[in-house]
Amino acid sequence: MTHFLGISGSLRAASSSRAVLEAVLQNLPAGTTHDIANIGDIPHYNADTDGGDAAKRLIAQIEAASGLVFVTPEYNYSIPGVLKNAIDWASRPAYASVFKGKPCLVITVSAGALGGVRAQAHLKYILNGMLADVFAGQEIVIPHAPKRLIDGKFTDSETLAFVTGQLNDFCARIGVAGPQNRP
Ligand SMILES: Cc1cc2nc3c(=O)[nH]c(=O)nc-3n(C[C@H](O)[C@H](O)[C@H](O)COP(=O)(O)O)c2cc1C
Repeated sequence: MTHFLGISGSLRAASSSRAVLEAVLQNLPAGTTHDIANIGDIPHYNADTDGGDAAKRLIAQIEAASGLVFVTPEYNYSIPGVLKNAIDWASRPAYASVFKGKPCLVITVSAGALGGVRAQAHLKYILNGMLADVFAGQEIVIPHAPKRLIDGKFTDSETLAFVTGQLNDFCARIGVAGPQNRP
């Protein structure tokens, strides 16, 4: 069974990252399953502890997933601290963590015009540092995301068509027929 794990870099209830993530996951091919990680409960990284149930759950979810889909805003030209914290917990042992070889699709959003492109580069750099298999398609950056939600959902058809094309290639990379190859 091909299973995807979605990870949102924003915790707020009306998050556009979360809305985009939900829209993207809905487009995954039939026969696959998905889940969204809850990174808000994970404590601050402290190597003297094991992170408790929340950190252990995230690590297990990443390990079990065939692919990860990140959607995150840019905070102060980089990724949000809450996302970096979650990644740090799952990053040990160095170069041999659950991220090693894990297919990862990165999508960034912003309220402004740049779509979080700097955070996109930073997240890919971080994932590469953990030897993840970062999908190298065209960058998926979504500017003005919050104001494009309708009733809390991201439904912009042009953007979703582009994302679906990338998702298709990402699925092929993992070895499943993507949404555009559905019978
Ligand atoms: C602490 C903070 C820092 C931010 N820094 C940036 C930034 O560097 N670049 C940017 O484009 N937007 C920045 N923003 C605006 C975000 O793009 C905007 O709040 C976005 O909607 C957050 O994503 P969300 O809707 O998923 O919560 C920042 C927002 C916050 C709260």
